[in-house]
Amino acid sequence: KRSRDQMIIDAGQKHFGAVVCKSCGMIYTAASPEDEAQHIQHHERFLEGLRYVGWKKERVVAEFWDGKIVLILPNDPKYAVKKAEDVQEIVDNELGFKQVPLSCPAKTKIYCFVSNEKMIVGCLVAESIKQAFRVLSEPGAAPSPGQDPLQHHRAWRCSTEPEPAVCGVSRIWVFGPRRRNGIARRMVDVVRSTFMYGCYLSTHEIAFSDPTPDGKLFATKYCQT
Ligand code: ACO
Ligand code: ZN
Repeated sequence: KRSRDQMIIDAGQKHFGAVVCKSCGMIYTAASPEDEAQHIQHHERFLEGLRYVGWKKERVVAEFWDGKIVLILPNDPKYAVKKAEDVQEIVDNELGFKQVPLSCPAKTKIYCFVSNEKMIVGCLVAESIKQAFRVLSEPGAAPSPGQDPLQHHRAWRCSTEPEPAVCGVSRIWVFGPRRRNGIARRMVDVVRSTFMYGCYLSTHEIAFSDPTPDGKLFATKYCQT
């Protein structure tokens, strides 16, 4: 029996290691041919979804050395809206909120950061809101019994007093390999200057909905500086 256990352990080290792809986010087993084939398929579809061909009347709201930010509005041509929806689906998948539709798609503004290689490497979905509830503190130390531990990281405590706000960021996402290059920061900067015509929104007027741990770290840092 012992030697068999040993074999499993060895095999585990050599073959059964789960890998997370930094680009497409898929978790797979590197040495399983089926898993690898599935990963390659998912990976290519993922990158294809982020490919940006562009269109004549694209609304470029900012230009940088490493890309540009394009704004897509609900009444834009079908192909533009379709692209925005495709990207949003990819983002929702990664964020794990497949089942949560936007509250009002007709009011959403979608900002895409397009790299010089013509790939969408950042996406921000902003909606008009009237009020928001401030996230109060770190979540409790341990999940309560019966609570899904994977859900636990979203259980921030929120204040019960609504505060006025103007713009809700319901999704913010940056392509894995491009994170920590200020892409999210620049997208939020652009939202603040373009969301409401003629106004530069303060950080208090922007609210991040249901933040993930990454989202919270980013928002905390962004709102302080
Ligand atoms: N850990 C610690 N600090 C961070 C992190 C992090 N993961 N991400 C950002 N910050 C802070 C840093 O201080 C950073 O400045 P620095 O790099 O000079 O130290 C500052 O925020 C600015 O960061 P950016 O480079 O502008 O952020 P980035 O482009 O990497 O995007 C984002 C941040 C969008 C949260 C990215 O990590 C991501 O896409 N994560 C996965 C998806 C996700 O969880 N999105 C948030 C969902 S919540 C919502 O949608 C409302
Ligand atoms: Zn991948």
